[in-house]
Amino acid sequence: MLAYLLGLSALATVILLVFRHLRKVYTGPSAPGPLLAKWSDLWLVCKVYRGSFETWNIGQHASAGKVIRVGPNKYSIDDPGAIKQIYGFHNAFKKTTWYSTAADPKVGPNDNLFSVQDRQIHAAMRKRQAGFYAMSSIKSYEPSVEECVTALVKQFDALCTSRLTFDLQVWLQCYAFDAIGQMTFGHRHGFIDGGGQDIEGMMGFIWNVQSFSTLLGLTFPWGLPFLLLKYGVPTAGVTAFVGRLRDRAQAKSFDATSEDVDDNKPMTFFQKTVRAEQADPEASYKYRVSVVNQQNMMAGSDTTSIALTSVIYNCINHPNVWKKLKDELRMAAESEKISSPISFEETQRLPYLQQVLKEGIRIHPSVGLPLWREVPEGGANIADKSFPAGTWVGINPWVAHRNKSVFGEDAASFNPDRWDPTCTPKHKLDEMEAYSIAFGAGTRVCIGRHIAHLEMSKLIPELVRRYDFELIHPETELETENNFFVKQKHLEARIYAHENPF
Ligand code: HEM
Repeated sequence: MLAYLLGLSALATVILLVFRHLRKVYTGPSAPGPLLAKWSDLWLVCKVYRGSFETWNIGQHASAGKVIRVGPNKYSIDDPGAIKQIYGFHNAFKKTTWYSTAADPKVGPNDNLFSVQDRQIHAAMRKRQAGFYAMSSIKSYEPSVEECVTALVKQFDALCTSRLTFDLQVWLQCYAFDAIGQMTFGHRHGFIDGGGQDIEGMMGFIWNVQSFSTLLGLTFPWGLPFLLLKYGVPTAGVTAFVGRLRDRAQAKSFDATSEDVDDNKPMTFFQKTVRAEQADPEASYKYRVSVVNQQNMMAGSDTTSIALTSVIYNCINHPNVWKKLKDELRMAAESEKISSPISFEETQRLPYLQQVLKEGIRIHPSVGLPLWREVPEGGANIADKSFPAGTWVGINPWVAHRNKSVFGEDAASFNPDRWDPTCTPKHKLDEMEAYSIAFGAGTRVCIGRHIAHLEMSKLIPELVRRYDFELIHPETELETENNFFVKQKHLEARIYAHENPF
């Protein structure tokens, strides 16, 4: 009898699952896309696993239009008009369960700012962290970044002398990693000083964590055993590493409660979180304030290094841009408008530098998958199609940035002049700005974007003033891997010092 009942309930469960699946397949709007994708998520999983989803995604939208079906209830969107609706500040759609795999499973989806889905909890969390990352705090982090620029220049000088070749992306990640470490914990991990080495395999760990959670977010729960076999438990390494950094920072005996602590003096992220915890331990725990430190390590190294690499790589391939940048900086130096090292404030007054940075981030956004959001109760009409509640929709920054109706026929080319207000009318600049989503958009826009700007604005001018770069294999196409971050690979280069740095 028991066996009969168990069999019956197993059958009922299977029927229910099949029914739920068919409902997804038939209630979603029809849209072009691979046939298999309509029936199973397996197609998307395999496509993402292969590591070049953004290329396929761009091609599909270019040939088949604004809406592409990539799973039974998943759609990739390319429509500037949909940005506000999906991501905007008023009633933006919430993040999908895909993000919960970026959380500590012991805590659940509300573990960190990136993973949290509930909009109210997110708003409360973000409010508590916003000050740490605000533009007004940037000045206080500048000395930390400057130290890392100096350390990198020292290493690059040595590479000029030795004439050795090096991997551009790896060195720029060393810089990004050390800079965020110094801002967060008050000391460099030592990636730069260690000669461009992946200390304790951290870069590899972080990359694996991202691959793991990207694929798990699409396959949970059935994919878990396969992913554990392939990657092990990748978070363990990162947590241990961050723990060691935290202990070292703690050992500096910072008493956050001390009356002598001056809020107007520069503090690291770590010190700020300790101070917040001591002031209100309950709220700090509830809103995960101390997770900020680990969050910085996870979110702030691959992303910024990809953007930096894009700028340098594209400048190497466009010597006219490199020259124009040099001219701008040389003139500014000669007329004493910039100091050495350059200050963040000064970099904001160099229009061509800002155009080049913006274009570098546009042409190669660090994130290369759709930023998934869930259609809310009542459904939604997007790009002239009706989507039922619960459908996943998302815009991929790579797709958005290749949209020719927004960025012009040369959308796939690196052209910093497109951001020049004397060449492009204001309404067009606004249109491009609104569809530039390298840092995401709306309520969930990257909280670390000013930090990234600080790191980029401080480093690029110092490189332009001192060096020229050369690719060892200029004829080969840029190799990349997309696991959510689209990282450049095997970018072998050589560096030459200017005779007269300015
Ligand atoms: C060029 C560098 C960077 C790029 C291109 C970038 C890109 C992004 C994108 C696209 C998102 C939105 C993801 C989504 O909606 O699905 C995001 C969110 C986030 N980023 Fe960044 N990021 C960069 C640097 C940083 C840095 C340096 C930090 C930390 C110091 C950081 C911390 C975060 C956090 C915590 C979130 C979640 C924000 C929220 O949901 O409220 N990012 N980033």
